[in-house]
Amino acid sequence: MERREELKVRTQAVEQIVESYLPAEEGHQKTIFEAMNYSVRAGGKRLRPMLMQETYRLFGGTGREIEPFMAAIEMIHTSSLIHDDLPCMDNDELRRGLPTTWVKYGYDMAVLAGDALLIFAIETAAKAFALTEHPERVGRAIGLLAQKTGIYGMIGGQVVDVELTDKPISAEKLDFIYRLKTGALLEASMMIGAVMAGADEASIQKTEEMSSAIGLAFQIQDDILDLTSTAEQLGKPVLSDEKNHKTTYVTLEGIDKAKADVAEISERAVTVLKELPGENPFLESLIHMLVNREN
Ligand code: IPE
Ligand code: IPE
Ligand code: MG
Ligand code: MG
Ligand code: MG
Repeated sequence: MERREELKVRTQAVEQIVESYLPAEEGHQKTIFEAMNYSVRAGGKRLRPMLMQETYRLFGGTGREIEPFMAAIEMIHTSSLIHDDLPCMDNDELRRGLPTTWVKYGYDMAVLAGDALLIFAIETAAKAFALTEHPERVGRAIGLLAQKTGIYGMIGGQVVDVELTDKPISAEKLDFIYRLKTGALLEASMMIGAVMAGADEASIQKTEEMSSAIGLAFQIQDDILDLTSTAEQLGKPVLSDEKNHKTTYVTLEGIDKAKADVAEISERAVTVLKELPGENPFLESLIHMLVNREN
């Protein structure tokens, strides 16, 4: 199968898994279920659950125990987007081709929907205990999920990102922001795949190194697209960084260097991938597709 076709088929498979863990829209608190599902169902590349599943496969995983974690990571990612778009954050009105959650459901419900997805993700991940023969792996994976999402991960990165809006930033601090706000969730995705498949410690560590590089390249490419793409193509507004006076990798290094670095950093990730035991040619092409992506 051609790679792009394969990507489509696998994305649909991921969609089904994520969908199967979404809450039913009923009861007095129905609005929160609708707001949660609205943003998850709006679409997106489903990159994080896909990387998780492919890493799980790389290390020989074959079971369904990974599925609750796949849904959980997409819920956490979506919650980060809902909050990132709020008027007090990036103040954006388009996400995944639709009005942002705060535009559609109000500021109050968007805050609650982000909170709800974040904690429902943990409730969902815990369902893996019932599907596994290795509860200790599930325990470790839940710990990783929380750690990489929280103050030492994505949220920590967003804090520094928001705090430094309108201010000059050193390359070192920008690197810190990117590794946390974007890198950490990609690290969680791939490390959980490795942990759940029973990978050895050295491999888990290499997986962290590889996914950190992917995260960095991914965020630099996001900065590039913010400048060079269109809202139709991205499903979110362009020039959002400029509007918010953000220092990005592109403003710091220039567009040509940014593009060259995306290629170099992702090559580094592929080199680490090749050092790992097991083989997954789709994962390798996924890394290339990611950094060459147009949305
Ligand atoms: C957007 O992530 C936020 C960043 C970390 C750059 P994605 O580009 O993966 O967004 P979706 O999931 O496809 O909408
Ligand atoms: C956000 O970075 C990363 C998150 C943790 C949500 P951006 O603010 O650049 O993400 P987009 O461009 O709005 O998707
Ligand atoms: Mg932001
Ligand atoms: Mg944003
Ligand atoms: Mg961006």
